[in-house]
Amino acid sequence: MSAPALERPRADGPPDPAALQERFDATIAAGQRIEPRDWMPGGYRKTLIRQIAQHAHSEIIGMQPEGDWLLAAPSLRRKAILLAKVQDEAGHGMYLYAAAETLGADRADLTDKLIEGRQKYSSIFNYPTLNYADVGVIGWLVDGAAICNQVPLCRSSYGPYARAMIRICKEESFHQRQGYELLMTMMRGTPEQRAMVQDAVDRWWWPSLMMFGPPDEDSPNSAQSMAWGIKRHGNDELRQRYVDMSVPQAAFLGVTLPDPEIAWDAETGHYRFGRIDWAEFKRVISGDGPANAERIARRRAARDDNAWVVEAATSYAQKQAEAAA
Ligand SMILES: [Fe+2]
Ligand SMILES: [Fe+2]
Repeated sequence: MSAPALERPRADGPPDPAALQERFDATIAAGQRIEPRDWMPGGYRKTLIRQIAQHAHSEIIGMQPEGDWLLAAPSLRRKAILLAKVQDEAGHGMYLYAAAETLGADRADLTDKLIEGRQKYSSIFNYPTLNYADVGVIGWLVDGAAICNQVPLCRSSYGPYARAMIRICKEESFHQRQGYELLMTMMRGTPEQRAMVQDAVDRWWWPSLMMFGPPDEDSPNSAQSMAWGIKRHGNDELRQRYVDMSVPQAAFLGVTLPDPEIAWDAETGHYRFGRIDWAEFKRVISGDGPANAERIARRRAARDDNAWVVEAATSYAQKQAEAAA
């Protein structure tokens, strides 16, 4: 349920800005949803467009590291699973770009901003996939971290974003299970297969912790996003939740997480963990990770090589409209 739409202009003039702000604040305070037709502060709109675009870009760029393995999947069954998963990620990107469009953003413009480096995407997708176990570890850890981040977004204050997240989270949970199942299968295999899994875990564990973003005290936009109900939890709280979830899963799988400081803390009821290399995070997020240039080059080629499809569809739609007129 949402608050009534934008107040109609009164007979004596435009709507009172203070009344609009008051209605917006009351909607947020009541835990209700803001919808596209509702008035919203400029900063709220801008923050949402940035966050949703960044999220959409991550889904689309995230198709690349796993897509690389579609032709090398070890069996037809694994290929079908991976194909379904990579297609899901494309769908997630599409829902999210559509949600950004309800805020007045233009999809082509967002793509240009991504390619020109003016908008970011998750740092995790700038790491390469070196063997097939990486596909399993991405499902288990990367989709697992995405679930921790995204489940609370199903209650985000912006309606179209929250509703997109409900469907996305259902699919993410399939992604995590297929990854874990692949790893379980490999762990029951040969010593070489077990070593592949451990190697992949060693490479992906720390970058997956970075997916939650910098510590709350270094995350200036976090507090405002929480006040607006866009985010529901701080970065550190979600990261801790993820560690608490992953440590027993690693033990069950039979792998060692590459952090000697991981230990149960009975006092806090959480697992302690070591220091994250934030210098690495900053380097990767600002464009200097192992695969940033390759990811963007491929996205650029996809946009340019497929421009004729957009042109053809646009011109067809135009002709149809003219004929109808
Ligand atoms: Fe996704
Ligand atoms: Fe996913």
